[in-house]
Amino acid sequence: MQHSGHTGAHETPGRWHILGAGRIGTLAACYLQRAGAETIVVRPGPAHTRRVSLVFDRETTSATKKLELTVKPATDCGPITLLLVACKTPYTEAALARLPLTDSATVVRLQNGLGSLDSRLKPGQRLIEGVTASAVMSQTEDTLRVVAENATTFGGGPRPTWFDGLAEHWPGLAWAADIRPVQWRKLVVNAALNPLTAIHDVPNGALLERPDLRAEMTTLIDEADTVLARLDQSWPANSHASVADVVRATAGNTSSMRADIHAGAITEIAAINGWLLQRAEELGLDLPAHRRIVARVHALEPK
Ligand code: PAF
Repeated sequence: MQHSGHTGAHETPGRWHILGAGRIGTLAACYLQRAGAETIVVRPGPAHTRRVSLVFDRETTSATKKLELTVKPATDCGPITLLLVACKTPYTEAALARLPLTDSATVVRLQNGLGSLDSRLKPGQRLIEGVTASAVMSQTEDTLRVVAENATTFGGGPRPTWFDGLAEHWPGLAWAADIRPVQWRKLVVNAALNPLTAIHDVPNGALLERPDLRAEMTTLIDEADTVLARLDQSWPANSHASVADVVRATAGNTSSMRADIHAGAITEIAAINGWLLQRAEELGLDLPAHRRIVARVHALEPK
């Protein structure tokens, strides 16, 4: 059953297709349904209904929300006008190619890393970039634990008409006409934290506790800041404190890259550290720490 949700004076967010109903995609589907949207998860295989429990950890209580997700293959999901892309970056291109997107579709990309949809949309289609600091952990196959509902930013250009109706039901959702600084801050966090926690198989907090990991993290942040400052002179290039804040706030968590390695999956390293390496190459810069860490993560991925 989809939520009929009340949206006050705002426009109902309509029918959303979702690519990638993993941890963040499922949380987004929950907020979309709360806002009165219809949600359809696009996935190969027979159409079915998936039931998921979301356990929201709040300060003193925890609340469980039971979610029903309609799942359909691309061949059976109808024209797509609103798409949320929350799949892992390595699968984006192939998954998108199969989708019946309309010529004026809006695509919201809520993924780690950068660039997975660059040059992939048609001129009349709109790309909205999303960045979230929320944390969701898998508890069992059908239960997700929402550890933190933190800030989520959508943006790039003018606010779409459905945005306010969605923001009313999505805690911490804000619009930024200029999303790039928000993306870059998250990119530096992911570039420093994810590969180190994956390689050393440690929870996020270990990066501040262990001096050897702290030193590696410092070098990765310095190199990332150097490239970003060359790309945009207004970049403050002092990301150490903001990365440390995220490490502290998520100290007990397993990063998504560590989880990918545990699951025997390909990681998002190409869209994170790989993106930085590409920009560095274009600028004639070398980033030895990022180069080495990309190779070390690739060595842990399935062949
Ligand atoms: O990818 C992740 O795991 C998350 O983006 C973050 C913020 C690094 C926390 O684990």
